[in-house]
Amino acid sequence: MLEKINAMMAEIEALKASNADEIEALRIKYLSKKGEITGLMAEFRNVAADQKREIGQKLNALKAAATERIEALKAEYQSEDHIDTNIDLTRPAYPDEVGTRHPLSLVRQEIVDIFARMGFSIAEGPEVEDDWHVYGALNFADDHPARDMQDTFFVQRDPIVVLRSHTSSVQVRVMNQQKPPIRVVCPGRVYRNEAISARAHCFFHQVEGLYIDKDVSFADLKQVLHQFAVEMFGPNTQIRLRPSYFPFTEPSAEMDVSCTLCGGKGCSMCKGAGWLEIMGCGMVDPNVLEASGIDPKEYTGYAFGMGVERIANLKYRVKDLRLFSENDKRFLNEFAAAH
Ligand code: DAH
Repeated sequence: MLEKINAMMAEIEALKASNADEIEALRIKYLSKKGEITGLMAEFRNVAADQKREIGQKLNALKAAATERIEALKAEYQSEDHIDTNIDLTRPAYPDEVGTRHPLSLVRQEIVDIFARMGFSIAEGPEVEDDWHVYGALNFADDHPARDMQDTFFVQRDPIVVLRSHTSSVQVRVMNQQKPPIRVVCPGRVYRNEAISARAHCFFHQVEGLYIDKDVSFADLKQVLHQFAVEMFGPNTQIRLRPSYFPFTEPSAEMDVSCTLCGGKGCSMCKGAGWLEIMGCGMVDPNVLEASGIDPKEYTGYAFGMGVERIANLKYRVKDLRLFSENDKRFLNEFAAAH
């Protein structure tokens, strides 16, 4: 036994290897479950009692030496002197793939830029909101259907916490923080409890606008929205305002633009109508001003809200809303040139 140990010790001290596979083979040969040193360890129980002490010590030293030698070989192999010479160091690196801006970011930025040129600043608010900012302060009746589960994702019931279903909530935050004159656009993501399809999604994006000052009129609203439509869709774009209803505006309207494809003659995109609906708007309801501490006798204002996906669809003719959130690079790369 002693001889075997001594012979193996000499062997181990002289071990050599020139690659990772060889080192691993040595580890297996000596130290694995069926390895030679493990085998000697098993024989140890047959050693005579008076030799156990000496042989035990030698065996332990042998195992330690083998472990150390193999670790040393590994370290040596991994050091710089042993870089694999098969690598072609002159080969150029893979080109970095530069990402593109997301079409919704492009359109949101375009919308915001147009209003920024007209003197609007930007405000943002949280996506997780309380009932007051999303509904209460915006003059929604307690039993308004929009508060219902069908529309709103509830995070908590008591007190109510929701994922905002529109960016009009940011109006409320701005009115609470600033004194008139107020002139802001509020871009952001909103959530609604809708089944996902080509035409609807459970989240999408909006840009809200709010202007409050003395003597703001519906004519001011119309002028600003006309300017927006012309800059967004081209100089020949016409707008029309149809009466509508929103709890937070009175009077309220929906705005259409002349069809961006046929120019108003009627085609498949506008379903023959010649017009495309793009946003809701109106004069801020006095109740809304009052709820945020602004005196409706002194100030008036207008507000508007549009869907970013909707505008992107009209601009880029994207037929399926789901494309915007699937991160398919083939789709996203189509917008590389739109920067
Ligand atoms: N908040 C409305 C929505 O989500 C959009 C909207 C309509 C915003 C009219 C407004 C407005 O500010 O005046 O459908």
